[in-house]
Amino acid sequence: MKKFAVFASGNGSNFEAIVTRLKEENWDAEVSLLVCDNLEAKVLERAEAFSIPSFAFQPKSYENKPAFERAIIEQLRLHEVELIVLAGYMRLIGDTLLKAYGGKIINIHPSLLPAFPGIDAVGKAYRAGVKVAGITVHYVDEGMDTGPIIAQKAVEIGEGDTLETIEQHIHELEHKHYPSVIKELLGLNSRGEKQ
Ligand code: GAR
Repeated sequence: MKKFAVFASGNGSNFEAIVTRLKEENWDAEVSLLVCDNLEAKVLERAEAFSIPSFAFQPKSYENKPAFERAIIEQLRLHEVELIVLAGYMRLIGDTLLKAYGGKIINIHPSLLPAFPGIDAVGKAYRAGVKVAGITVHYVDEGMDTGPIIAQKAVEIGEGDTLETIEQHIHELEHKHYPSVIKELLGLNSRGEKQ
């Protein structure tokens, strides 16, 4: 059974989509840990509803980033995590975590990178008047939404689209494709079995 962790900071709709697909398709894998840097985040309730253990922490209560990343690593080892899936984790991964899990951390970003990195990517794309928006799944390095691209999906923006409808399209793309990319990276076949 492959074990992976999801990192999230807020709502957690991607977390929910990943766990739902995994269960529906009976993957030979499990989310063995949710890591969350916001004690108030809705994603913590979602994890509890699925009985998935979570490590929720307040970055401010640690001396610095290496200190809280060491605490995260301890939890990742305890839960035998092989892959880290960032899903709305709004914090740069530091050296400590990168050294321990280099090449095993992926992120989803709501734009066609390298366009519109950072926060409010959908708003930036909308205000730029782009005719095609999209999502990117990529490996994580020390940069902000940089790192080798694994997959991208695009959606056309129509005349009648508003920021809200674009956000909705983007979330639909994320919920559909992120679980598929994770499944492939875990080496599972279309039936969710180990190959
Ligand atoms: C998602 O749209 C994700 O792509 C984005 O945060 C949202 C989280 O939504 N991530 C980034 O912007 C990373 N730079 P969710 O909490 O409902 O899954």
